Amino acid sequence: MLLIKNATIVLGEYVNTIEKEKQDYLFMTDILVKDEKIIKIQKNIFISKSVRRNLITIDAEYKYVIPGIVDPHCHMRDPGFTNKEDFITGSKSCIRGGITTFLDMPNTSPLTITKENLELKRKNSLNRSYSDYGFHFGGSKEDNSSEISQVSHEVASTKIFLNASTGDMLIEDNKVLENIFFESSIVSFHAEDEKVKTAIDLSEKFNAPIYLCHISTEKELEFIKKAKMKGLSIFSEVTPHHLFLNAKSREISDLNNKLLRMKPELKTSEDNESLWQGLDSGLIDVVGTDHAPHTLEEKLESTVFGIPGVEHSLEMMLNGVNDKKITMYTLIRAMSINPAKIFKIKNKGKIEYGYDGDFIILDMDEQTTITNDEVISKCGWTPYNGMKRGGKILTTILRGNIVYDKGIFFDLLGKEVEYKKN
Ligand code: DOR
Ligand code: ZN
Ligand code: ZN
Repeated sequence: MLLIKNATIVLGEYVNTIEKEKQDYLFMTDILVKDEKIIKIQKNIFISKSVRRNLITIDAEYKYVIPGIVDPHCHMRDPGFTNKEDFITGSKSCIRGGITTFLDMPNTSPLTITKENLELKRKNSLNRSYSDYGFHFGGSKEDNSSEISQVSHEVASTKIFLNASTGDMLIEDNKVLENIFFESSIVSFHAEDEKVKTAIDLSEKFNAPIYLCHISTEKELEFIKKAKMKGLSIFSEVTPHHLFLNAKSREISDLNNKLLRMKPELKTSEDNESLWQGLDSGLIDVVGTDHAPHTLEEKLESTVFGIPGVEHSLEMMLNGVNDKKITMYTLIRAMSINPAKIFKIKNKGKIEYGYDGDFIILDMDEQTTITNDEVISKCGWTPYNGMKRGGKILTTILRGNIVYDKGIFFDLLGKEVEYKKN
């Protein structure tokens, strides 16, 4: 059993009538986890003498305790590109960054577009993850809807590329798209610019929910706003790099110009601002990293698209909380509650009775500098090198087990998540 004492948890947000700004509604409490699940959330939990022997107690006084992050957008490169990342290093980076559940993308080698390849990925990840995980399946231009029908209840979504990107997964045939939609519980899109509108039109046409990855411009947000006002089932994601970085960040040095390339590319500071507002207003549902590591050598040698993200996404986003761009509750909603809800992941994303005991303990007073040498990912670099973290992740807890504590990692306990049936 695990007892967290004096945790500051966030129950919601409200508008302060005097300052007219959103504030977090905080509550100080103890939390008790038994058999991996949260069984009590109340002040001064009393533990009888007989069970005290099996109890691990953490005092979290003056610390925020927030639900483990659910990152729905990771390219862990395993199998196929394990020089860039693998399940062990990718998940270790997640745990360091407070991500207790990640969803892996299908553009590996082989592509996750058949049941057989999904099983291969499963076998490959077994006992090789520090955090819990799930998989996105890939939609194939050769029409793999019969494969999708066999796995749709055991994967997070079917991922479709409407723009060419890493991995040859671009689909343009309408009949193929229709078949894929029909078999999928939700379709995730890599769609940029006008293609966002194309994706929304498909959602409307097939009357099916979609998830729009990495929204990066004000214009794309406008499409989403209209679609949501129409009542369409559209969910959208923003990455920390599209919030904190822009085309100017690339101009700082030759090195930055080579490193800071990804799809979608970095945009303008005005876009940064619109995205923050979209996140604050709820127009954007999720913050996902699009963790897409390539090694330094690869980045310097030629133009490869993708940057790492999982290790510093939360600590960077805490800057947004400190700068009052969003509340801590909005952060939790976008990084834990919503991704778990949208992809129907069982027992994840909330500090609530019956949910998995996944937590992060945060010290908001430790705002040290992020550096390349602390990076765990095989890629060995971070786009946030030299920037300040908004707070420090002290401890990460997975299903009631301490898996990371002040620089020390414990066992690889990660397992595949389950999904709710509607
Ligand atoms: O920059 C990107 N990198 N965008 C993508 O869509 C794919 C990703 C990758 O897998 O490297
Ligand atoms: Zn993408
Ligand atoms: Zn991606």
